[in-house]
Amino acid sequence: MNRALVLLQVAVIGPALLVAAQAWSADAVRGKELYEARCGACHSIEDNRVGPAHKGVVGRKAGTAPDYDYSPAVKASTIVWNVDTLDRWLTDPERTIPGQKMGYSVPQEQDRSDIIAYLVKVSAHP
Ligand code: HEC
Repeated sequence: MNRALVLLQVAVIGPALLVAAQAWSADAVRGKELYEARCGACHSIEDNRVGPAHKGVVGRKAGTAPDYDYSPAVKASTIVWNVDTLDRWLTDPERTIPGQKMGYSVPQEQDRSDIIAYLVKVSAHP
């Protein structure tokens, strides 16, 4: 599947992250707007708020933003955030990591893709 290939690229070729993001026809510019509108109440890239800071989130293990007070479930999770796991998380956080405390989801696939493209972009160029 195409997405698997993108994942491989994200994992292996750091500088190609942006190219990979474009390969799955996601729009990081639209993603930024969506992020600010829908995630911004609880998250920012740089700072912990209600939710953890997203700086460098793509490629890092769940529950590891410095100084953020995670739920025990997310802290104990072995999930590493990438295009695929972020898509699952935003579809249904509770199903991805039972016991989490985010309680917010993004039902539309294109919205998820665009938001994730934005997170990939900010993770590649913090
Ligand atoms: C109502 C507040 C709220 C909103 C809105 C929200 N989140 Fe969260 N988010 C949280 C909380 C709280 C956590 C920590 C969960 C835990 O520790 O169980 C979290 C955790 C996460 C994580 C895991 C990060 C890590 O360091 O492991 C990701 C990724 C994430 N959110 C992405 C998003 C995105 C993308 C959006 C917008 C589509 C969003 N969140 C909207 C509150 C929110």
